[in-house]
Amino acid sequence: MNYKKISCALFFAALTVNGFSQSKPAPKSKMDQYISSLMSKMTLEEKIGQLTQYTSDMALTGPSIRAGYKDDIQKGLVGSIFNAYTPAYTRQLQEMAVKNTRLHIPLIFGYDVIHGHKTIFPIPLGESSSWDLAAMEKSAHIAGAEASADGLHWTFAPMVDIARDPRWGRVAEGAGEDVWLGSLIAKARVKGFQGDKYDGTSVMACTKHFAGYGFVQGGRDYNIVDVSQRTLVETILPPFKATVDAGVGSFMTSFNELAGVPSTANKWLLTDLLKKQWGFKGFVVTDYTAINEMVNHGNVANDKEAAEAALNAGVDMDMQGAEFARYTKQSVAEGKVSVKTIDEAVRRVLEAKYKLGLFDDPYKYCNEDRARTEIMSQANLDAARDIARKSFVLLKNYQQVLPLKKSGSVAVIGPLGDDKRDMIGNWSGAGDWNKAVSLTEGIKNVAGNSVQVTYAKGANITDDANILRQLNNSGGDISVEDPEKLLKAAKDVASKADVIVLAVGESQGMTGEAASRSDISIPESQKRLMREIYTLGKPVVLVLFNGRPLTLEWEDAHFPAILETWFAGTEAGNAIADVLFGNYNPAGKLTITFPRSVGQIPVYYGMKNTGRPASPENKYSSKYLDIPNDPLYPFGYGLSYTTFTYRRPVLDKTTIKTTDKLNVSVTVTNNGNYDGEEVVQLYIRDMVGSVTRPLKQLRGFQKVFLRKGESKEIKFTLTNEDLKFYDVNMKYTSEPGDFKVFVGTNSRDTQEASFKLTI
Ligand code: NOJ
Repeated sequence: MNYKKISCALFFAALTVNGFSQSKPAPKSKMDQYISSLMSKMTLEEKIGQLTQYTSDMALTGPSIRAGYKDDIQKGLVGSIFNAYTPAYTRQLQEMAVKNTRLHIPLIFGYDVIHGHKTIFPIPLGESSSWDLAAMEKSAHIAGAEASADGLHWTFAPMVDIARDPRWGRVAEGAGEDVWLGSLIAKARVKGFQGDKYDGTSVMACTKHFAGYGFVQGGRDYNIVDVSQRTLVETILPPFKATVDAGVGSFMTSFNELAGVPSTANKWLLTDLLKKQWGFKGFVVTDYTAINEMVNHGNVANDKEAAEAALNAGVDMDMQGAEFARYTKQSVAEGKVSVKTIDEAVRRVLEAKYKLGLFDDPYKYCNEDRARTEIMSQANLDAARDIARKSFVLLKNYQQVLPLKKSGSVAVIGPLGDDKRDMIGNWSGAGDWNKAVSLTEGIKNVAGNSVQVTYAKGANITDDANILRQLNNSGGDISVEDPEKLLKAAKDVASKADVIVLAVGESQGMTGEAASRSDISIPESQKRLMREIYTLGKPVVLVLFNGRPLTLEWEDAHFPAILETWFAGTEAGNAIADVLFGNYNPAGKLTITFPRSVGQIPVYYGMKNTGRPASPENKYSSKYLDIPNDPLYPFGYGLSYTTFTYRRPVLDKTTIKTTDKLNVSVTVTNNGNYDGEEVVQLYIRDMVGSVTRPLKQLRGFQKVFLRKGESKEIKFTLTNEDLKFYDVNMKYTSEPGDFKVFVGTNSRDTQEASFKLTI
């Protein structure tokens, strides 16, 4: 099978669908003329410099720092610096480039502004649980505005990797498991970061990690990826394409290999697909030392070959590897890399600088005034609190334990109950955790003097010395105290309170990059605390802090109320307290499935049927002996303080042609005791396809507000686009036949209707 040939054919089909067509070359723009003139003066060394990026020593997000990078800047051998911010520091480095180099070309400053710059928003997975695209766009916009005031031009976000393995720590950085929703969120985030134009108050976005990183084997970070072409095309690539359509300025390669070729050397991926077929106009940066790592992958014999493979594949900038700097001049002399290839890469990098306005004013983004007034402004903090509340998912609320009354006494128990560092989560680079609001502080702020609030830690995050050592070696600051004393003190405090708020989960370092876990339950130290608190027989509200789905069967069986809060950012404590005391009615819905146990992975809502669907009576059917097939909490799941009832969905036609629109309506009633919001979800199933189709695919949602007692008719429209998929010949099309439509409150609890598609 010729991989390249099939793939190309496949993606030409995709292009037709997406309406991309090669247009005639436009007359030379002002930007083209400026860059051509600049490039005509550049030496090969200076060109290679533009393709070279180094980390500053202000922060470290990978294994190495290049000594002497400042000398390199002054010699014109660097095009970009990352991990440097603040107007003062970026100005200092920019001056080195602009004043001391022959051609005065400004640097472009990048940074991992993932979920906020200094005002920290919930981790991206948490934010995605809001199903609120406008709110996600706004949070990215604020992050970009703060970053741009702080000397930055470019964020290494969004991460759009579809992720279905909760062992992988980086599920925290994405939008969950669904391709359709993930693509919408990817677009919203790009629009948010970049704004309508680069006017100095937004930053360039970077779609990452291209491609397949979410499918690392065993959920182990940096591991290899081996997926079918169908999975690549149907599941992995669409959110990437969505960001190209949204005008994203840059792409980052992924660490992993794909079909045996590391992404950073994958010409088909970077050039044929991304640049040629999708028409991506920005530049491609590698991930941190991804070029050097090819030697370990084993597709090249040495660093020089790695650099050549990357350039020839379509990489435009080497992040931190220094391999272009070391070898490319020689490779050009030997004819291993053409000057044309170098020129194309340089042009893409210079165009980004031009579009950002750096040639007009290299200090445009070093804005002390804006940094002082805009960063962590009250408006930004209010927005952070608002989206934090939107991101929480109420997993259980037996007999309406929540919301709590604003009277009596509350004991906050648990290692995350009065913690600040973890609130801002992982990848909160410039965030100041001292400014975060802990849960206990939030409860005091929101409940005021009418509630007596006490706190006890109860347990260490973990007592596992090996894990603690690793967390603390990589920037963690986890203190460990005598577990017996902690437990005893917590029981004393808890036994005196009317209600216990049990704050448990992961510390921020247990999620994110290089934080894979084979056991995704709450650590044993905290399990012991939970068991002991349970025996007190008091009402317990479990408040979870975590960056991935956890296995929670015991917790679900023993505690009446469970609130998932992820790592909610600077305003975490206030936002959680808003929900606990009913100032805000939670409406978040999971965007990633919570399995019952690690043994169920992979488990996601869009799975396909087997030839032997599970049946309790039939031994020879697809099931486990020890657990059901369904997860603990399915995709789309989340409760409210009120209850919503759904009538059956009504279709306006039972047969449609490809040119028709199908209107689906459903009446939803709030028949509980609170006003509230509901995410009404619509899924489809193509009953028979030339290739097998998933049991459900999300194709619509609406977040609606209903006063108590109110009913609303919610309307969706499906078109032929919603029914298309890559058929057996890899043609993107719909196929005539029977379909089902499901509407409901989550991917499991739905009601259905049917229709037929005819030609
Ligand atoms: C490695 C990570 O994979 C990537 O997401 C990040 O942007 C870079 N390091 C830079 O910090």
